[in-house]
Amino acid sequence: MIDEHEHGYFTEPNSAEVVVARNKNAKDQRLAQVMEVITRKLHEAVKEIEPTQEEWFSAIMFLTRTGQICNEWRQEYILLSDILGVSMLVDAINNRKPSGASESTVLGPFHVADAPELPMGSNICLDQKGEPMFVHGRILDTEGNPIAGAKIDVWQANDEGFYDVQQKGIQPDFNLRGVFRTGADGRYWFRGAKPKYYPIPDDGPVGKLLGALGRHPYRPAHLHYIVEAEGFDALTTHIFDPDDPYIHTDAVFGVKQSLLAQFRKVEDAEAAAKADVAAPFYDVEFDFVLSRKKK
Ligand code: BEZ
Ligand code: FE
Repeated sequence: MIDEHEHGYFTEPNSAEVVVARNKNAKDQRLAQVMEVITRKLHEAVKEIEPTQEEWFSAIMFLTRTGQICNEWRQEYILLSDILGVSMLVDAINNRKPSGASESTVLGPFHVADAPELPMGSNICLDQKGEPMFVHGRILDTEGNPIAGAKIDVWQANDEGFYDVQQKGIQPDFNLRGVFRTGADGRYWFRGAKPKYYPIPDDGPVGKLLGALGRHPYRPAHLHYIVEAEGFDALTTHIFDPDDPYIHTDAVFGVKQSLLAQFRKVEDAEAAAKADVAAPFYDVEFDFVLSRKKK
């Protein structure tokens, strides 16, 4: 027997309505809503673009290659979402913060869950490569009070733009990453090496797409953070070097004005001795403000 919603043959003008009506008995209402919006927008796009059969097939082949290159370590669909700005949009929708709280940005693929917890002030640069950097600041609530016991998980690329996990056997394991916990004053500080800009993995279909669009694959130099404290929303973010050549053209749109830090070059030997680094070094000061969890 034909149900009412199955009536109506497919025509060019009513294409989306016919497909959406077919999903009337969906078991999951959220899935039905998502598929309705995607169907409507996709049909609208196809109607505007009017692809040839060859163009549509090359789109199918692009998605096929994107899937084929994925493995345990490589997630090309996330990369596609990143370069389309969708990752940042989903991040923004899910991290609307009260005024004064630090803004979030994308997690990226290079976080390692079991980085070691280190004494405050440790040097996370285990191979002594690159220009020394002293990073410090406070973890605060939106009223400006220090947060004690906050966990700061930090990771960064080295002076050549590589994470340790990209250079196994070249960089020591857990190079340029660490976990710190604040004391009563909410302060944090550690030593590292000034990071360099780097390309997102660009040897696959997404990299090829970037090239065809006349876009470069680079992310400006940054440090990644996940800051967590009891009673507060976790903050996944970066701080960026505002003088980086790619600061205005991040391949994944992760830069926000409020996340620009100063990487201040310090020549003074006394200041270097105080920070326990060699001169010259880069001094990077940045406070993170956490929003209170809604009850
Ligand atoms: C990262 O910053 O680690 C990253 C973010 C998005 C795509 C690739 C890398
Ligand atoms: Fe990164």
